[in-house]
This record gives sequence, structure tokens and C-alpha cells, in this order.
Amino acid sequence: MYVQPADAPKRKPVTVPGLRAMKARGEKIVMLTGYDASFAAQMEAAGVDVVLVGDSLGMVVQGQSSTLPVTLDDMVYHTRLVSRGLAATLLIADLPFMQFRDPAIALAASARLLAEGGAAMVKLEGGSEWVCEVIARLVKHDVPVCAHLGLTPQSVHKLGGYRMQGKGDDAAARLRGEAREVVLAGAELLVLESVPAALAASITHELAIPTIGIGAGVDCDGQVLVCYDMLGITPGRRPKFSKDFLSGRGSIHEAIAAYADDVRAGRFPGPEQIAG
Ligand code: KIV
Repeated sequence: MYVQPADAPKRKPVTVPGLRAMKARGEKIVMLTGYDASFAAQMEAAGVDVVLVGDSLGMVVQGQSSTLPVTLDDMVYHTRLVSRGLAATLLIADLPFMQFRDPAIALAASARLLAEGGAAMVKLEGGSEWVCEVIARLVKHDVPVCAHLGLTPQSVHKLGGYRMQGKGDDAAARLRGEAREVVLAGAELLVLESVPAALAASITHELAIPTIGIGAGVDCDGQVLVCYDMLGITPGRRPKFSKDFLSGRGSIHEAIAAYADDVRAGRFPGPEQIAG
């Protein structure tokens, strides 16, 4: 269990309803992925609002070539580790590949992430009709849901690679339609990954729920990065939309605090990270 240093300023806990309030106040939401208690405690101390236990752990922690092999047991384990490093930070966990293929499976998997893992919300990829049915069932049973549209890594084979989505009028209209549908189904938060900045801005403007961008421009209501990317320790090439915040700084704490400051000030992503 994480114990706050005695001199640490007390933070108000970030809650699911609080996310909408942050959007209404125009306060940017700072999110990072996390996979263990020590990194989570650094994020908590640096003022991150939300930690996401992403199934990206399959690639950056386990060294796999995609997120598809990540199991529900993996997700429950890492979510439990992260929850021990957090006190006031909201914790979201990904539903891994095939663990939300129907509402009953999604409900059982979410129950484990919330009850055993300590998450407050689950995230799932996609916005088609059957995904919206799953979202609606989870919400009906009081499981808060974060949707994820645009580049959805669990669909890498269908998409033909990790490519920007929503380019061109038809694709943009489809993505906008899916965004409306996930909100109608009851999603409380929406991650937009690798989407043209102008499209993400207009979806953000239209929706009542907050959007969190990754490779989606500066006008989303918040930003998320894979923590190993923003510390420059991901093996291989860092995505263009990310930035090494540790470079030129003395500690992981300073790097995370600089990321949080830049997101809150609307300085990240900058022009050099924005594609599309
Ligand atoms: O799995 C993950 O880390 C994610 C973020 C990149 C949004 O889904």
C-alpha cells in the first residue's frame, strides 16, 4: 500500500464524475499509462490525474509484438500493483483482446478489474454496434467505461498496421458517428488515438464527455502517453506523437511533472508531435 510522504500536499481524489467537471471548467486531464506500484507512486506524486493500466504492457513490459497476447490475469495483476502506488489518482484498466466479445464476458472481466485490481473504470476499444451494446450493459451494472476510438491496437491486423485513422471525409464521418454512439451507450470518457487533430478537436467540442488524445492534437480535453515512451526507454522507435520528457532532466519525477505541466498549459503536444 502506498504511503504518502508526511509533507506531501493532500490532493482531492480524482473521480469519474470529476472528469466531466474538469472538462466543464476547461481543466486539461493528465493521463499516463502505468504498470507497477513504484511508477504509479511517481505519477501520483507528480500530480497525474489518471493512470491507465494499458494492454500496451504486452509490448513495453512483456516484449510482445502486439497487445493481443495480453491476458485478463495479466491485466488484473498489473492493475493490482498500480493500485498500491496510488491514493488520489483515478485508475483505469484495459479490457484485453477478446475479453469483451459479449456483454456477459465483459461484465465478468470488469468485475475482476474493479474488485481484484482496484480500478475505478474499464477501457475498451471500438465503437461498432456490438461494442456499444457491451458498453451499455457495463454501464447498466455501474461499471464506468472509457471508450477508445481511432487507432485501436487490438485491431492491428484488420487495420493493416499502426496507422492514423479518420483521414478523409468518409472515415472521419464514421469515426464521428462512433463517438456519438459510445456516448449514447453511456461511456464517460473517450480516448482518441492517432486521429487528425482537426477531427479530434471537433469531436471534443461536440461531446459532453471528456476526450483524451494520443497522437490526436492539442485540443482534446486531456492527453495520455505510454510512460516508457515519454521516459525514452521504450525499445525501438518512439512514436512520432510522443516526446522524451526525461531528456535533459534529472529524475523520473521531474520528467512526469514536466509532462503534467505541459499538458495543463496546452504546450503538449507541440507542432513537432502533431501529425495529419
Ligand atoms: O494500452 C494502452 O496503453 C492504451 C493507450 C495508449 C491509450 O490504450
